[in-house]
Amino acid sequence: MTNETLTKPTKREYLRETEIKYKEYISPSLARLLKFSGYGTVEMKAEGCYVEDPGGEKYLDCAGGYGVFSLGHRHPRVIAAVKDQLDKIALSAKVFYNRLMADLAEQLAIITPGNLKYTFFCNSGAEAVEGAIKLARLKTGRTKIVAADNAFHGKTLGALSATGRDLLKKPFSPLLPEVIHVPFGDIEALETAVDEHTAAVIMEPVQGEGGIMVAPGGYLQAVRQICDKHNALFIADEVQTGFGRTGKMFAVEHWNVVPDILCLAKALGGGVMPIGAFVGTPEVWEAFKENPIIHTTTFGGNELACRAGLETIKVLQEENLVENSNKMGELLKSGLEEIKNKFPNIVAEVRGMGLMIGVELAQEKFGGSVIMEMAKRRVIGVYTLNKPKVIRFEPPLIITEEEVKMCLDAFLEAAEATAHRLG
Ligand SMILES: Cc1ncc(COP(=O)(O)O)c(C=O)c1O
Repeated sequence: MTNETLTKPTKREYLRETEIKYKEYISPSLARLLKFSGYGTVEMKAEGCYVEDPGGEKYLDCAGGYGVFSLGHRHPRVIAAVKDQLDKIALSAKVFYNRLMADLAEQLAIITPGNLKYTFFCNSGAEAVEGAIKLARLKTGRTKIVAADNAFHGKTLGALSATGRDLLKKPFSPLLPEVIHVPFGDIEALETAVDEHTAAVIMEPVQGEGGIMVAPGGYLQAVRQICDKHNALFIADEVQTGFGRTGKMFAVEHWNVVPDILCLAKALGGGVMPIGAFVGTPEVWEAFKENPIIHTTTFGGNELACRAGLETIKVLQEENLVENSNKMGELLKSGLEEIKNKFPNIVAEVRGMGLMIGVELAQEKFGGSVIMEMAKRRVIGVYTLNKPKVIRFEPPLIITEEEVKMCLDAFLEAAEATAHRLG
């Protein structure tokens, strides 16, 4: 199979074969879910803000891999850097120094806020959260973790314990003991939950899968103070919000707060390589002093991923993408608000920061129709995992005004069609 555009009958055949292989070898129920998702096609190629199917149909990617494609798909500079790296060394032999890992750790120390300095590299967001929880337990000698309702921190057992949705957790219980959830944004509840047994409070500054919920003013400062009062650590999970997504390099900067540990992944690989990381202060990193290999992972910090990470940071800075996130974010948000005013029975609320915007629909049943109608207009929109009533807009930070307009036109027509059908 080449990756050239296919004729209509061949495309149909290719899609049918893929569906059958999903059913036979991956999961029959996932095959069904994807078939009825509104897209029902195969991703074949991608570039910039677009994903292309086998028939050459191009979709504007307003989901952006839930934060992965901040530089768009296959940014030419990241591709060139990774290709060049392939000819040198791809994965770490793990016995010599790894220069690219050291370079990327240095860059992260420079761009992350406050005294965050040391980095451990892994391969995904959940792994970053796992490592952060382990480090917090090691540093404090305590086991209790406080997290937020509706939070999403990943699906490995430790990260899942901190995730705030029973539907995802119940089938796997018992999970980590002593993980307590409090309503996001409720300072009093946090004050009650955090005590001298608490190792850490883990929070997303803007809950992604929880429905694009922005921490209310003063909340993250309160999290910091409450942690300090009880000598507990503050873990900020910026797996989704990091690297300019919310209009600052890191979302905690909106609140001028410095966590003890910062979890990163998704956009760090430039949409080309998988990579995760957690960054900690020197004080917290002390805990690793006695045994520096107490926490390791084979592929973490590999040269290909680090080279992608280094180029990603340069591109973000040199192409002023954090600024563009703000500018395009404002345009998108105000356009969505206009649509909300036109269709108040369909759209209940528009919220978010930078290019991390959520549209809460008036009823959950509208979600399928809105997504399907957007898909018909070749715009990718998806709902948030823990709140299916919310359609998220997280397009690449390279998005142009013209593309924001395309996205708004598609959403307007999708809202119109939904109002006509169900409203
Ligand atoms: C805030 C946050 N933390 C952690 C994760 C888990 O990341 P991964 O899917 O790479 O394990 C996600 C994934 O969506 C996330 O949004």
